[in-house]
Amino acid sequence: MTEKNPEQHVTGTPSTRENGAPAGSDRNSLSVGSNGPLLLHDVRLVETLAHFNRERVPERNPHAKGAGAFGVFETTEDVSRYTKAALFQKGTKTEMLARFSTVAGEQGSPDTWRDVRGFSLKFYTSEGNYDLVGNNTPVFFLRDPMKFPHFIRSQKRMPGTGLRDHNMQWDFWTLNPESAHQVTYLMGDRGLPRTWRHMNGYGSHTYMWVNAQGKKFWVKYHFLSDQGVESMSNEEAERIAGSDADYHRRDLAEAIERGDHPSWTLYVQVMPYEEAKTYRFNPFDLTKVWPHSDYPLIKVGKMTLNRNPENFFAEIEQAAFAPSNLVPGIGVSPDKMLLGRTFAYADAQRARIGTNYFQLPVNKPKVESNSYTFDGNMTYEHSGKAPVYAPNSYGRPWADETGPVDDGWEADGEMVRSAYELHPEDDDFSQAGALVREVFDDAQRDRFVETVANHLAGGVKEPVLSRAFEYWRNVDENIGKRIENAYREIKGDPA
Ligand code: HEM
Repeated sequence: MTEKNPEQHVTGTPSTRENGAPAGSDRNSLSVGSNGPLLLHDVRLVETLAHFNRERVPERNPHAKGAGAFGVFETTEDVSRYTKAALFQKGTKTEMLARFSTVAGEQGSPDTWRDVRGFSLKFYTSEGNYDLVGNNTPVFFLRDPMKFPHFIRSQKRMPGTGLRDHNMQWDFWTLNPESAHQVTYLMGDRGLPRTWRHMNGYGSHTYMWVNAQGKKFWVKYHFLSDQGVESMSNEEAERIAGSDADYHRRDLAEAIERGDHPSWTLYVQVMPYEEAKTYRFNPFDLTKVWPHSDYPLIKVGKMTLNRNPENFFAEIEQAAFAPSNLVPGIGVSPDKMLLGRTFAYADAQRARIGTNYFQLPVNKPKVESNSYTFDGNMTYEHSGKAPVYAPNSYGRPWADETGPVDDGWEADGEMVRSAYELHPEDDDFSQAGALVREVFDDAQRDRFVETVANHLAGGVKEPVLSRAFEYWRNVDENIGKRIENAYREIKGDPA
């Protein structure tokens, strides 16, 4: 039987094989007679099937489902007294990429499942790439990177059934009560943003800024949405999860397509270097915010997203954001979580994308690089015949900084495994309590109680259940009681 020729619909030059020679056919495999067996030397068929088997890279372990867009960051204010970083000098415009994501769900999971949202930024600066890999909440669940893989596993799936499990999640949270502040955000309106355009982004950690005179400051980043912050109800989120799993991805792509370019204004909180030593709580504790009354927001500039990716796989799946991508004038801090993250991301990307992931166009700095990182799978950029060792006598430059580094801090003491040293106001629950009592309004508090009670009613068992009630009583006595009552009402189980 002869197939109808689609040639009339096809224009342009015919396709080629991977070696550039004419493909032969993208339609018919080579066989011995029309009904006969296939031939191994049909290179086109073999390369088509073999490459297909290798088309996917592993999804990100956390933050697998997401999407993003390109744009520009413009520094509109003079913050040179705090940082010498080129991208934060007034008037500088820097090309950038943003990726938004959910944390726990897999690649195909619905965008509107309740979760924290990732807020990853890559700035292609004139001094190298600077990445800020944050969330839509200003705090996190933990204080020590040792706990992070355990936390993510508790959010993912049960080893036996392969199901997600509320009991496992509350078991982890209640055994790690430093999670209370972030769980309060998660179960509140921030856990269900209306769109990615309608959420704020936070660097969350405390970072260091250094100015041209070498003066150091501690900073926290706040990207406030110019679209406003909006959320959706549990019912709406559930309905959309069933009808359009890609709701947030679609919203961003369509907004940019129609020229409705979303933007965020960047503010920072700045703490003078010395004040960290005597502040009333540990300013490097990732479960805490700095009150704006102590450290007000200082405006820096605006980020606008104005270009959709041309190719999702090449520019979003293969994008590699890492807190270790820093530039002069910006450093890390004694936050143990942040220090752990400076290792974790580039390592994940070597495994997930490939040894030379940083050579791909989306990850490549816009400035010339001269790294002595050498060879490996899929090497594309190379140093030609230049020496591959340093120092060398043949003109290839190398780096040789000595003495104190300009973005360092003093550290001395015995090596220990221990929690942070306690400051007068360090605790797990007081900022979570303030969030429920002072930041949420009545309607938000009502929704919060209903959400937590329903979440607990979705399979949480003893002894975890009693611990969960106690956890919320520790956050706020009244909210704890309300959650327990609401739970008993759902279960028809008066105490
Ligand atoms: C010690 C704690 C943490 C570790 C070890 C860790 C590790 C990781 C790893 C391995 C990835 C996947 C990277 C990739 O495959 O490209 C990832 C993604 C991500 N993480 Fe973390 N993480 C930690 C804490 C945090 C915190 C505190 C935040 C936010 C403040 C955060 C935000 C993100 C985001 C937004 C992504 C997605 C990046 C993207 O868009 O490609 N993580 N994390």
